Amino acid sequence: MTELEAVRTTWEQLGSTNPYWAVLTENDFHEGEARAEFFATGRTEVREMLRLLEDRGHRPGGHAVDFGCGVGRLSFALAEHVDEVTGVDVARSMLDEAVTNNPFGDRVRFVHNESHDLPFPDDSVDLVVSSITLQHIPPSLSIRYLMEMVRITRPGGHLLFQQPSHIPAPVPIPAEQCRATLAVVRAPGTLVADECGYVRVSVRNDGTETWPAGQLLNVGNHWYRDDIAVRWDDGRASVPCPLAPGESGEVTLQVTAPSAGGDYQLGVDVVQEHVAWWSDRGTRIVRHPVTVEASTAPPPPRPEAPGAAEQVAPAPKVSGMQMHGVRTELVCGLLRQLGCTVLDALPDRRAGDNWASYFYVVEVGEYRLEVDP
Ligand SMILES: C[S@@+](CC[C@H](N)C(=O)[O-])C[C@H]1O[C@@H](n2cnc3c(N)ncnc32)[C@H](O)[C@@H]1O
Repeated sequence: MTELEAVRTTWEQLGSTNPYWAVLTENDFHEGEARAEFFATGRTEVREMLRLLEDRGHRPGGHAVDFGCGVGRLSFALAEHVDEVTGVDVARSMLDEAVTNNPFGDRVRFVHNESHDLPFPDDSVDLVVSSITLQHIPPSLSIRYLMEMVRITRPGGHLLFQQPSHIPAPVPIPAEQCRATLAVVRAPGTLVADECGYVRVSVRNDGTETWPAGQLLNVGNHWYRDDIAVRWDDGRASVPCPLAPGESGEVTLQVTAPSAGGDYQLGVDVVQEHVAWWSDRGTRIVRHPVTVEASTAPPPPRPEAPGAAEQVAPAPKVSGMQMHGVRTELVCGLLRQLGCTVLDALPDRRAGDNWASYFYVVEVGEYRLEVDP
């Protein structure tokens, strides 16, 4: 499977299971009234993005492209400011939801794109926007998409996008501060084998010092059966830091049920990545019972003829949402080489506390790719 196919398969699955959670993981499931709140976050985000252009005397208008549009959260918000919007996404399941949500008729359209290229002619759009998308795309591909964004934007047009750079090395939290009380707020009691579920967990700082931001502090889970850990390391969600002593935060963890049916315990712990699981430092793992029902999906076909084994394609492995960064020096250097002016690279929190991430404000010039002899 190519990198792009892997990305598409992951997002196709996320879009068909819980597209709203997949877009904004920290905001829970977005059912009912929360759906309106979900789209309101898009309007706020777009207003803030466009203000970065307006403050420099540029009035957004014309045709905007929303790269990695998901269910249309930013596309619809953009339509309140520009003439037409095209949302582009690799996952049909996300776009199906976006089309259903569209209150703007022909002014907002959605395009499914499974290619490394963007499906627009050179210099044909005025603005490209992309938020919390490039962070999920491996660098070799995201760099290509950046080049494509420049190609399709007319000289004088703009790019507004977020891209994480790197993860600064964590400073270990002292062992005596690794004290937390965990509680399961909401979790499924039953899952089908290999099914994804969502677990809402609260975590309280029982130490005497604030847990600082940017130190790779996560909630993670394991699966136990008869008190034996049968699957170590499953889901992860960032603890909302800074978190002062006595303060609590909540996170939503995406977990994947074990492959065999049976009665399990889902164990939730805190981990500072590359440093320690906090159950090794005195924090109690919280356990929640989950019954896993055996899957009724048919087993894969047995090869019949000699040699057929090699021809049986393995089921695509969906590895879940991944995070990637491209060093900010590289992003700025590439854009300049392509004839753009980087008006700003603002430190940004969209990738969570653990990443050094930037929001780029870019004016596109005459597209050129200069290679030193
Ligand atoms: C976290 S969601 C963000 C959606 C939207 N930008 C927002 O902020 O509401 C990331 C989206 O990027 C899409 N995506 C991932 N890789 C992509 C690619 N190579 N081309 C286009 N879309 C992609 C996913 O399908 C998903 O809809």
